[in-house]
Amino acid sequence: VAGERAFLLVANHAVATDDIDLADLPGAGGRFDVVARFVARTLLTSHGIREDTQAVVYFDRGDEESVALRMLGEEVSGLRPDERSTAARLAKALGSTPMPVWQDVDEGAQTRVVDLETLVAELPDPVTLLDEAGDRLETLDVSSGTFVVGDHEGLTSDQRSLVADRALYVASVGPVSLQADQVATIVNNELDRQTIAQAGR
Ligand SMILES: C[S@@+](CC[C@H](N)C(=O)[O-])C[C@H]1O[C@@H](n2cnc3c(N)ncnc32)[C@H](O)[C@@H]1O
Repeated sequence: VAGERAFLLVANHAVATDDIDLADLPGAGGRFDVVARFVARTLLTSHGIREDTQAVVYFDRGDEESVALRMLGEEVSGLRPDERSTAARLAKALGSTPMPVWQDVDEGAQTRVVDLETLVAELPDPVTLLDEAGDRLETLDVSSGTFVVGDHEGLTSDQRSLVADRALYVASVGPVSLQADQVATIVNNELDRQTIAQAGR
């Protein structure tokens, strides 16, 4: 699909169950606040939802099978901008047992068991790894595809090499290290500029 966007957060610390204390997303949730903000910021605009966009979270569970959850902008409704209600939606989705293929688990939400390499290979091309030290995003000819960000501690070196091997671009949105949701907001804004400029040509 032309203009399709996917944002992938690699979450190495967040809990991947429905047993989430909504009053303590940063602590007991393993920085689930980062996950909730990322999903809401990726999909929501001022008064609407980005229908061309999916927010994907990869929950790395170490020795256990890892899980991915995605929310599809074209299918989800009623998503609210606050962390707590978004976290509650995500927790509900995580309550269904994930299978090795994507399963609908809630309106606009799907989960599956998957490893990071498979997940990245299946998301829309081109893949862009977001990294403080990358090339300036606005200088790259990218207006769609998959944008990969790390959680509060970033990708591990193994994850970084795996994503970098698949990525066409390594892009920076600025000289300061930002949070995943802030990066998603800036990337969406830059892509909006490029998409609207292209449409006007
Ligand atoms: C809070 S940062 C992680 C910081 C972590 N200490 C590190 O070194 O990766 C979260 C993620 O957002 C992305 N990010 C943060 N600032 C960025 C920037 N200025 N340009 C591009 N990506 C950025 C990176 O993917 C990073 O892993």
